[in-house]
Amino acid sequence: MQQPARACGIDFGTSNSTVGWLRPGAPTLLPLEDGKATLPSAVFFNADEDSTCFGRAALAEYLEGYEGRLMRALKSLLGSSLIDGQTEVHGRALRFQDLLASFIGELKARAEARSGRVFEQAVFGRPVHFVDGDAAADRKAQETLEAIARQVGFRDVSFQFEPIGAALHYERSLAAEELVLIADIGGGTADFSIVRLSPERARGIERHEDLLGNAGIHIGGTDFDRALSLECVMPLLGYRGQMKNGAQVPASIFFQLATWHTINFAYTRQAWADLQHIYRDAALRDPLDRLSRLVSQREGHWLALQVEQAKIDLSQQPAASLALDRLEPGLALSISGEDFTLATRALVEQVGGCVGELLDQAVLRREQVDTIYFTGGASGVAQLRERIAAELPAARCVEGDLYGSIGTGLAVEAARRYG
Ligand SMILES: Nc1ncnc2c1ncn2[C@@H]1O[C@H](COP(=O)(O)OP(=O)(O)OP(=O)(O)O)[C@@H](O)[C@H]1O
Ligand SMILES: [Mg+2]
Repeated sequence: MQQPARACGIDFGTSNSTVGWLRPGAPTLLPLEDGKATLPSAVFFNADEDSTCFGRAALAEYLEGYEGRLMRALKSLLGSSLIDGQTEVHGRALRFQDLLASFIGELKARAEARSGRVFEQAVFGRPVHFVDGDAAADRKAQETLEAIARQVGFRDVSFQFEPIGAALHYERSLAAEELVLIADIGGGTADFSIVRLSPERARGIERHEDLLGNAGIHIGGTDFDRALSLECVMPLLGYRGQMKNGAQVPASIFFQLATWHTINFAYTRQAWADLQHIYRDAALRDPLDRLSRLVSQREGHWLALQVEQAKIDLSQQPAASLALDRLEPGLALSISGEDFTLATRALVEQVGGCVGELLDQAVLRREQVDTIYFTGGASGVAQLRERIAAELPAARCVEGDLYGSIGTGLAVEAARRYG
């Protein structure tokens, strides 16, 4: 390759995004924030300063305590009915589609500032399913993302499955042919492809024959956060508690707070009125005092970040501790690996089942698969890696670049498609 590519590859992720641009003699991923290739998919509308910021800066301003509105897991809105709706930011209506456009427009602007050129063409990654088991809704999600890409100035927009992006990246490191199961487990989805990869095959234009199957399921790291939060943390705030009349405390606010992209729904006037109601009639006040403090101080994302960090810690150590002073002075919680396993067992099993079905449906014998290539941050969850590896006991496991693989591979695909 002599010339830099005309087009870029965009991995718009639930948790992190990257932009890849293939050019000779230079790294493919463009630095997007503080010299790092990832831009966390987060936006903060700072009410104190009437400004908007993105990525790590968005998380930092929120955590510093600025008044405002944090949005994370924006991609989860695609494929949900929320995408056609709007939210209120600083008293103004903001369409969710425009929110996504502001983030994707920022990705484009940063990539252009870094590369010193304008990108009019892009290959966007997409999960194998934006929506499980609903082809029409899935198509609509891709169309919405395409419309947003055009809205921010891309003229030619096309898509590639995220695990295929990872495959194209892994293939560049190979010296001989391998049959590979790509396992890309991100923040929002787990996506799998079975592909035949080799340096010779990499030169081909038409790769149809090399692709033996794709599968995906709408489970990712944010679902692990949610499960851990509901099982271990939300009970401290009243979840599964009782009302004076013996009924259960209504659960919807706990689900909102445990789910990244609905946290802000717990801050509406209606939610506050409902909470007052619950508070009056709850059998125990202490947990609801914590809940009221959390909601009134807008600490929902702070709590979700503590839970996410505990999940990440548990991928490296037997137990994790959470300092929950903001809920109640001195309050702390310890979560064991066993708690985590119990809370997330069903999710792990569903992901494992998805891989099992893919292997059953593909025309191959399981022993033929040489390698499992793991990518995506949530592939750090040991239980998930073990469950997937158990489907292919003879295969070698490779832990790939957890955050950069897809953006790099999409850049390869962009150069192939657009020159
Ligand atoms: N060491 C770790 N152990 C477990 N989970 C981790 C670890 N490091 C990061 N994660 C989780 O990985 C997820 C983010 O992964 P990644 O950046 O690959 O997702 P994404 O590409 O943005 O999402 P998607 O591809 O699903 O849209 C988050 O849920 C994060 O908490
Ligand atoms: Mg991803």
